[in-house]
Amino acid sequence: MQKPFSKTEISEAVAYIAGRASLRPRVGIILGSGLASLADEVAQPVRIPYSEIPHFVSTTVEGHPGELVIGWLQDCPVFLMRGRFHYYEGYSMQEVTFPIRVMWGMGIKYLIVTNAAGGLNPSFRPGDLMLITDHIGLTNMVGLNPLRGPNDPEIGPRFPDMSQAYDPALRELALQAATDLGIPLHQGVYIMLSGPSYETPADLRFLRLIGADAVGMSTVPEVTVAHHAGIRVLAISGISNVAVMGPGAAAVSHEEVLAAGQTIVVKLSPLIKEILRRLEQNLA
Ligand code: HPA
Repeated sequence: MQKPFSKTEISEAVAYIAGRASLRPRVGIILGSGLASLADEVAQPVRIPYSEIPHFVSTTVEGHPGELVIGWLQDCPVFLMRGRFHYYEGYSMQEVTFPIRVMWGMGIKYLIVTNAAGGLNPSFRPGDLMLITDHIGLTNMVGLNPLRGPNDPEIGPRFPDMSQAYDPALRELALQAATDLGIPLHQGVYIMLSGPSYETPADLRFLRLIGADAVGMSTVPEVTVAHHAGIRVLAISGISNVAVMGPGAAAVSHEEVLAAGQTIVVKLSPLIKEILRRLEQNLA
């Protein structure tokens, strides 16, 4: 059975981080593949490599430098994860989502999740942004739900509702911010596959048929655990490549995904900063 982390283990990580940084952010941010440069804009940063935090595993993927950055972004204290853990790296879903439990332990109330994803919706182009309105938790459905195992009712309920996993008020705030900045923002459904292989053309036709707009290899476990713990979630995909499902199917590469990140960041960074500014006003 997958082993859930104990309260003691969560507390050890929380105490370690709290001992290194005095700031107590209410907003967490996870930066996905190729999107890490937003972390460079954090003012007065305290950087903690994941390898130094008790019970954190380490990232093994190129383009995912692993460190926690605590500091100020747009006058908002943030708990920012530069790089995340993926199931395809060989970690358990509990290991992948341990940082979310630590965020819960640190009092994080809002989580902004980003990822790089392949576009399935034919109107999407590389470099576009998609606000995630919902997900298809394929990995959850096949038994890889990170909440499997004993439940701690102090963190959240045994059978959490997922009808509003992507917070409607935060989505509205993000859409308004994007409109005001003139940044086009699609809306759609994200689907997670375990990876690391990309999809076959037949896989892609199946994913489109069942209602997905973008496909990636992350996010669903983190959002499941955050929502379970009552953390309000906003999630945005950067479309790094588009899925070609028929004849003429083109190869996807990790290099392409990382390169697209640079185009995506140019839009995603100002959007996230504007979202933080509005969130900070709401929090005040
Ligand atoms: N498929 C799965 N994951 C991805 C893709 C893709 O095309 N692009 C970025 N992450």
